[in-house]
Amino acid sequence: MGRPENFDETPRAEPRRPRHVAIIMDGNGRWATRRGLPRLAGHRKGADAVRAVVESCPDFGIEVLTLFAFSTENWKRSTEEVSGLMNLFRRYMRRESAELSRRGAKVRFIGDREGLAPDIREMMAGLEAQTAGNDRLTLVIAINYGGRAEIAAAARRLARRVASGEIDAEALTEAALTNALDTGGLPPPDLLIRTSGEQRISNFLLWQCAYAEFVFVDDLWPDFDRAALARALAQYGARERRFGAVAT
Ligand code: IPE
Ligand code: IPE
Ligand code: MG
Repeated sequence: MGRPENFDETPRAEPRRPRHVAIIMDGNGRWATRRGLPRLAGHRKGADAVRAVVESCPDFGIEVLTLFAFSTENWKRSTEEVSGLMNLFRRYMRRESAELSRRGAKVRFIGDREGLAPDIREMMAGLEAQTAGNDRLTLVIAINYGGRAEIAAAARRLARRVASGEIDAEALTEAALTNALDTGGLPPPDLLIRTSGEQRISNFLLWQCAYAEFVFVDDLWPDFDRAALARALAQYGARERRFGAVAT
């Protein structure tokens, strides 16, 4: 698939700064409800909050930002909310494409595209192609994403290659599975942030977060800004990552 067979999992030279930050952008609904507004107003405000965070990342030395925008479980919501969210994705891609290029952001989507409307899929592919040459920040957007579904799909793809005789079953190593995931070729998240006070992973990047540091913040996602990101990064900087070894 043109991806490197291995990527470097060793901690970076400057361990106090995360290279890859992943965010579960939660709390849009509560933000709206507290103001007596419809939930979609919170999602709209949440989409605006994305811009400030994307802008800030290169200043903090972050190379990869992964945002959880819509989970495979979010289809359980009302058709009104789901279609409102889909329209917001359309609007975001239309409105932000020029700005993302200006910021040097390369966009990559993860998740099951088959379940999305054809026009959205087309816009996603267009945005990826349009930003492919940028290199200041890799912005990974998870839409119709579920960690378990991703692992199962990767296992299916590898199993097909074994069944066809292309590879040996012994070749199904951790590295092979890592690279077969939607995130293949990317470093694993160093820091996972979840907003809104919830302390759970909700099926996000299950495999990739094996050694991520978790920071849970009370801010609702629409209120999350550069200062909130800086606070989360400070928490990360105070952590000691051991990767199973004994502290030195
Ligand atoms: C996160 O905000 C956005 C999505 C899941 C799409 P929520 O919509 O989950 O907001 P709360 O958790 O209901 O406040
Ligand atoms: C996780 O938030 C998904 C996204 C932020 C896109 P949810 O609001 O869907 O998660 P739960 O239902 O509280 O676990
Ligand atoms: Mg939520």
